[in-house]
Amino acid sequence: MSITDEQVSAWNEEFKNAGPQEILRHFLSLFKGRIAFASSLGAEDQVLTEMIAAIDPAARIFTLDTGRLFPETYDLIAATDSRYGIRMEIFFPDRGAVEAMVREKGINLFYESIENRKSCCHIRKVEPLQRALEECDAWITGLRKAQSVTRSGLKVADWDVIPGLININKKLIKINPLANWTEEMVWEYIHSRHIPYHPLHDQQYPSIGCQPCTRAVKPGDDIRSGRWWWENPENRECGLHRD
Ligand code: ADX
Ligand code: SF4
Repeated sequence: MSITDEQVSAWNEEFKNAGPQEILRHFLSLFKGRIAFASSLGAEDQVLTEMIAAIDPAARIFTLDTGRLFPETYDLIAATDSRYGIRMEIFFPDRGAVEAMVREKGINLFYESIENRKSCCHIRKVEPLQRALEECDAWITGLRKAQSVTRSGLKVADWDVIPGLININKKLIKINPLANWTEEMVWEYIHSRHIPYHPLHDQQYPSIGCQPCTRAVKPGDDIRSGRWWWENPENRECGLHRD
């Protein structure tokens, strides 16, 4: 399918006040068989899994298992599979690349420099993401504008280039159905439908990634301040998102 810049602008105009279900229905059908949802099992992702399972139970939903996730995240994968009668696809990092990295730099290399942290994120997340999206023209994420300074310009639909994608000329469309949702809207949706969610959200973890790179935040602190907390806010993206 060839998509023009004008088409992407038209989508953003068309869906600027649309609800996430309407956005999902449109793009899951438009890109059927060539679209996948990336879930980290965070609150936003659980909202989208519920909506996607209702719209198209055969739609692809995958997670990137870095090997450093919280034990509770694995339990939530199992609980989510069983609630919706699905089997989330799990992508693992390349074994040889992880072994070489930790042999050279140590198991907790990420605390030592931004460069080390980015290599770890690249090997454990970005390369598996490339494989997960190999057959796709579009992907869906749980990003929201209000999550951080780096995400304030987020659109419902945009071009995306995954760094180092096997076919480097290939651009994908990234769909962010919750771009305009607030944190309150996410939680209201979760509670009203009794959607299973990560137990650490109730322990001051608003944003959850890998266990060694995520910590609890103080009430009122920025919601992503517990991610890579030793780095400056403008560095705190792992390479999955360029925003
Ligand atoms: S991150 O880039 O800092 O890790 P964040 O945790 O805010 O991102 O998640 C934003 C979105 O990125 C999620 O809603 C999800 O779509 C995608 N994502 C992040 N981590 C993963 C993961 N481990 N597996 C699949 N998707 C992920
Ligand atoms: Fe590695 Fe931390 Fe990135 Fe996870 S978040 S891939 S442990 S640097």
